[in-house]
Amino acid sequence: MHQNSEHLRIVGGQPLQGDVTVSGAKNSVTKLLVASLLSPKPCTFTNVPDIGDVRITVELCQELGMQVNWDKEKGTIRCHTKEIRTSYIPQRFCGSNRIPILMIGALLARTGEDVIVPTVGGCKIGPRSIDFHIEALSKLGAHIELREMKKECAYLAKAHQGLTGGLIELPFPSVGATENAILAAVGAKGTTIIQNAAVEPEIVDIILFLQKIGVNITLDVDRTIRIVGTRHFYEAEHHVVTDRNEAASWGMAAILTKGRVFVKGAQHAHMITFLNKLRELGGGFSVRQDGIEFYYDGPLQGGLHLETDVHPGFMTDWQPPFAVMLTQATGASVIHETVYENRLGFTETLNEMGAQFSLFRQCLGGKQCRFNSCAHYHSVTVRGPTPLKGMSITIPDLRAGFAYVLAALIAQGESRLSGVPFLDRGYEKVVEKMQSLGAEVERVSITPEIPVPQGEHILV
Ligand code: EPZ
Repeated sequence: MHQNSEHLRIVGGQPLQGDVTVSGAKNSVTKLLVASLLSPKPCTFTNVPDIGDVRITVELCQELGMQVNWDKEKGTIRCHTKEIRTSYIPQRFCGSNRIPILMIGALLARTGEDVIVPTVGGCKIGPRSIDFHIEALSKLGAHIELREMKKECAYLAKAHQGLTGGLIELPFPSVGATENAILAAVGAKGTTIIQNAAVEPEIVDIILFLQKIGVNITLDVDRTIRIVGTRHFYEAEHHVVTDRNEAASWGMAAILTKGRVFVKGAQHAHMITFLNKLRELGGGFSVRQDGIEFYYDGPLQGGLHLETDVHPGFMTDWQPPFAVMLTQATGASVIHETVYENRLGFTETLNEMGAQFSLFRQCLGGKQCRFNSCAHYHSVTVRGPTPLKGMSITIPDLRAGFAYVLAALIAQGESRLSGVPFLDRGYEKVVEKMQSLGAEVERVSITPEIPVPQGEHILV
């Protein structure tokens, strides 16, 4: 949680027009930096976005002993971790994102020393637990427990006999648990096999990087990843994959505002499911060699059923902004969120703006998901089109935040969005990019009377 000292003022109604370049993916570059801790050799990353989450991750890695030379103009980071200085993650890094949890796998692999990762808010762990991570790492010989330590509660991870390769069968293709298991496996003796692994493009990006630095690693078609542990590393350079979240965000902004935007760097292969849903909805797009052009192609047609899923399914992070698209489509549509149990709360604010969402606990959709027997509101219907009106909004997390930006861009009148640091953590130069496309948006400094966002939010 943070008190913010500025908000975004957005006046709706301007069609977005022009070209915009997608930055490197937040959910890749932050993990790549962690992966580079495995090796004592220098690594260079290009296409690095200057966003909040990269800054936090760089600071954390420096704390652990990494030397970092970050040329923000060029988007290049040269880093070198000759040795790890500490395996204690200071509490200030915990709670803002999931990166500290990945340090368990990376540091056990590199040093074999005990790793301490404090939790935030004491020992009451919320629904986003790390049980899959713990189970996976224990298969390689790690012992992880939650302990009260010096007035704080922390995960204590040990592998005093060293890590040994093994078979990990993930109960769900969790992105973070897959990454943690891969990182630990690099430092384990022998071969590790991860079944039911996440295969998101950002995971593939990490696999490519690890291969460059000397790891023998394969990805099979059936969600199986094999890693042969190694201590022998090479210097490497890696270009970070572009951000498919950002690419989809600008695409949706173009269509919703009845404009036309060429999104340079949008990668067709990473957006197949998104583009299929867009076409069902009647949104225009044209794929080019160096990007994708998105344009308004007439009224949007609802009657859509949208189910989020792990890759190659419809990505959960695309869901909140896509929900805004559905408020402008004719007829009723259904969203079934199957990755997170609590990712539809943002629709309440959209209802206050004029949308017609109704939440359901049941699985509304083609399949019964793992939340079927729980009491979570994880399905929603929406009826459109409904005009939206501008208002003051508090951003609760990154993706809901961009959904509110979209709503504000098409709303009648002015909106004021607080909680801007959430957006800045994932979108590089978000205001400048919107302004360059013709949006009426500005950052306004305020004396901090804005309430700090309350309640649960999705950790990025
Ligand atoms: C990553 O989170 C992304 N974050 C998320 O993006 C993204 O939404 C998510 O993957 C799914 O694609 C980063 O890469 C930093 P998970 P992660 O482990 O790794 C449950 C954004 O805005 N689960 O695949 O934490 C969990 O509660 C962010 O950029 C357990 O129950 O996601 C969730 O319901 C938001 N136990 C589901 O699995 C565990 O041990 C998927 O989580 C681990 C996860």
